[in-house]
Amino acid sequence: MIRLAILLALAALACFGAPSEDYSFQTAQSFLNTYCQNCHQGQTAVGGFRLGQIAAPSSLRQEAQRWTSLSRRITGGEMPPKGAPAPDFAQREQFTHWLGKALRAEACANGVVPGPAPIRRLNRHEYTATLRDLLDMHLDIGQTLPADGAGGEGFDNAAETLFLSPLHSEKYMEAAQFAMDFAAREYKSRTKILVAAPGASGLTPRQAAQRVLKTFLPRAFRRPVTESEVAPYLALFQAATDQGQSYEEAIFYTLRGALVSPLFLFRAEPPNPGTETRPLESYALASRISYFLWGSMPDELLTDVAASGKLQEPAVLKKLIPTMLRNDRSLEFVERFIEQWLHTRELATDKAPDAGLFAAYTADEELRSDIRNQPVLFLRELLVKNLSLLQLLDSKHTIGTSNLAKHFGLKLPLNPGRTKQPQWIELPEGSNRGGLLGMPAVLAVSSYPYRTSPVLRGAWILESLLGTPSPPPPPDVPALDEAEAAAQAGQPRTTVRERLAVHRASPACAGCHDRMDPLGFALENYDVIGRWRDEESGKPVDNSAELSDGTKFHGPDQLRKVLLDRKDLFMRNLASKMLGYALGRGLTLQDSCTVDQIVAHVRENEYSAQSLVEAIVLSVPFRYQTGRVVEKK
Ligand code: HEC
Ligand code: HEC
Repeated sequence: MIRLAILLALAALACFGAPSEDYSFQTAQSFLNTYCQNCHQGQTAVGGFRLGQIAAPSSLRQEAQRWTSLSRRITGGEMPPKGAPAPDFAQREQFTHWLGKALRAEACANGVVPGPAPIRRLNRHEYTATLRDLLDMHLDIGQTLPADGAGGEGFDNAAETLFLSPLHSEKYMEAAQFAMDFAAREYKSRTKILVAAPGASGLTPRQAAQRVLKTFLPRAFRRPVTESEVAPYLALFQAATDQGQSYEEAIFYTLRGALVSPLFLFRAEPPNPGTETRPLESYALASRISYFLWGSMPDELLTDVAASGKLQEPAVLKKLIPTMLRNDRSLEFVERFIEQWLHTRELATDKAPDAGLFAAYTADEELRSDIRNQPVLFLRELLVKNLSLLQLLDSKHTIGTSNLAKHFGLKLPLNPGRTKQPQWIELPEGSNRGGLLGMPAVLAVSSYPYRTSPVLRGAWILESLLGTPSPPPPPDVPALDEAEAAAQAGQPRTTVRERLAVHRASPACAGCHDRMDPLGFALENYDVIGRWRDEESGKPVDNSAELSDGTKFHGPDQLRKVLLDRKDLFMRNLASKMLGYALGRGLTLQDSCTVDQIVAHVRENEYSAQSLVEAIVLSVPFRYQTGRVVEKK
């Protein structure tokens, strides 16, 4: 047992291509001279890129952008172009690994910086949740808005993708009208909005409207408003009244205007006029925290803390975080985050299991929703109870329901009174259901709709769990199924594994596939929808695997140990993803220094879930603002 652990630990190094220590700037230069020089040297260099531009070690700092783009072209298999002599897989990996490390070291030499903080529109989930909290009503109004694409670290809250199209403006007008018409009829919303009325209180309609606006606008704009910001709305109210609208009609008409204001639709932060980095202004920080952990506007408590000027105090933040995570609204964050991180959101698309082959899944709506909710509720439990994040890799617990128990073919210790409710339960010995890899949502989204693929599952693990994605496949590889059809003529049926073995024998394929396929082989006992199976196509399932260094292991339990041995890769990836989500933007090279600090903090705190959120909220990019860039002469 101990031997296995040592072997696996060594494998962690070998299998994931740690560059050898003696790889130096010179080694990298000779790599470039060998494979790039022909086209990228001197007067005749193509594409505006000359090797001379990056010949000195100082270029790692001064030309970081160029080095990054060059690395991307190499990893993507674009450079050198087809036909030119190319490095083999290992040479390429060694070069890009060395480069990544060297660039990070340079970027971090100047310490941690806040990085960009772009203005962003509320995405449609945030828009819906914000209206819900602002107007105290439940209405999924965002459904009428165009869908948001994903950007940055792969999330749909990334500023890069949240521009405003003419279609949006039109839809926002409609949505604002719809929301206000709805609010005007709802008792709770009316009470929240109509804090003053003319008449009984001795107020004129204009005075009453002013009170309504002074309560509503700061909430809608998520910061205090000035008299001059209230004035145009008061004018709007006056105009509506002059046209014969009643007091209430005129109020709701006026508030519609607030809902299409950029101050409501966008999260803009007051710019930093100086050249030095400074702490973010309190209300802007309150918004950052609430959109991170709730996907919605700050509540009264958070606004009060911002008003008191204490929100920037680490001790105050540390106390707020667990409270906010326990609030039901945090489900918004956990769901958006994990479904995009793990891609399980795609189960709602044509990547879902095939309806003809897997009716057990597609025909049972309750089971489907239990399956989709399982990873979400599992992560939420870790966050609320402050448990170890390594439980995502392996755990003695899971979230269970009677549907899932049946699906797993297990007797789960569910509380008998409410077996349809998701429950945090201890798994029986040998259940094979611990961690994300035992969850059907994950197993399904990393399969084809009609069959499992060790390649896809391996690629999924490399990308989603370890953050070391395989480069994209070369364009001209025939699909397994076509290859099979061609070879079929009367020959016995082969398993997916047998077919894969053929191409892994080829060195051109082995570079990538030796990394992916073994990880997936160990999961072959799970079918497309995550049910356990001992046979496939009438043959016993072979779940044995061998890493490229010759280490052998088999089955999901040993795979979990292989992954736990790489827990630092996993944590780095999770921390990057969550930081990218929290900041709502793609990470830059310089953010990797912040990620290092976050991971160190989480490790010191025994990987506890709240320590990750805490480290992100307390980080420099989250709490600070870069100063104005002064042009260098
Ligand atoms: C056979 C000729 C050839 C070789 C060899 C070659 N390249 Fe290129 N490269 C090109 C051409 C042509 C372009 C311009 C078209 C394009 O961008 O794809 C280009 C463009 C580039 C660019 C884009 C420049 C920019 O600023 O957008 C980079 C970076 C690059 N190559 C890097 C490399 C690296 C690194 C190698 C060696 C590993 C390499 N190339 C080998 C032909 C070559
Ligand atoms: C640069 C990395 C890379 C190389 C080299 C590579 N592949 Fe792949 N291959 C992938 C990735 C990544 C996938 C995952 C599927 C996807 O993303 O489309 C894949 C998927 C496949 C699949 C589909 C698996 C399935 O379950 O249907 C087959 C078949 C395949 N590759 C065969 C080959 C063969 C044959 C070669 C050598 C000629 C090769 N690949 C070389 C990266 C690579």
